[in-house]
Amino acid sequence: MTIISRDKALELLEENLGNRNLIRHCLAAEAVMRALAEDRGEDADLWGITGLLHDLDYEKTVDDHKNHGLVSAGMLEGLLPQESITAIESHNYENNGVERVSDIDYLLAAGESITGLIVAVALVYPDKILQPVKLKSVLKRMNMSAFARSVPRETIRDCSKAGYELDEFVRLSLEAMKGIASEIGL
Ligand SMILES: [Fe+2]
Repeated sequence: MTIISRDKALELLEENLGNRNLIRHCLAAEAVMRALAEDRGEDADLWGITGLLHDLDYEKTVDDHKNHGLVSAGMLEGLLPQESITAIESHNYENNGVERVSDIDYLLAAGESITGLIVAVALVYPDKILQPVKLKSVLKRMNMSAFARSVPRETIRDCSKAGYELDEFVRLSLEAMKGIASEIGL
């Protein structure tokens, strides 16, 4: 199948998400998924677009968490292969019950979650930028459950189910986000 182009995916995102920070979150998830795909020899364009579109229905389902991911799946039918659609659905397993099975499922859920922690760590620094953020600082904050409390640590730790040590997973994610820092306002 022909997958949706990045330009079209961005257009779709702009049409559906009014909140600039949410679009930045999607761009961060894209960068992390691309980096993970490259690391593993997977299709970086496909994994990137999966990350970019994972929260497409966020504003449509903001008061309807059990359908977050499922509405996106309907919107993306025919535009992405099933493996991507399942990953997008299952990133919200906790609310919609779609189980994570494949590596891309675990890595999308872990990858989009780690972006939240990394942003929160960057905001601790006086200049609120990513560049000085060290791997060690992110790992330390992983263990501080009171810090960025809404970031699900278990979901991040599940990167192990796709074969990653936590520190390597965080290292790849942090580097990927630093690579697009200006695009995400950090
Ligand atoms: Fe997300």
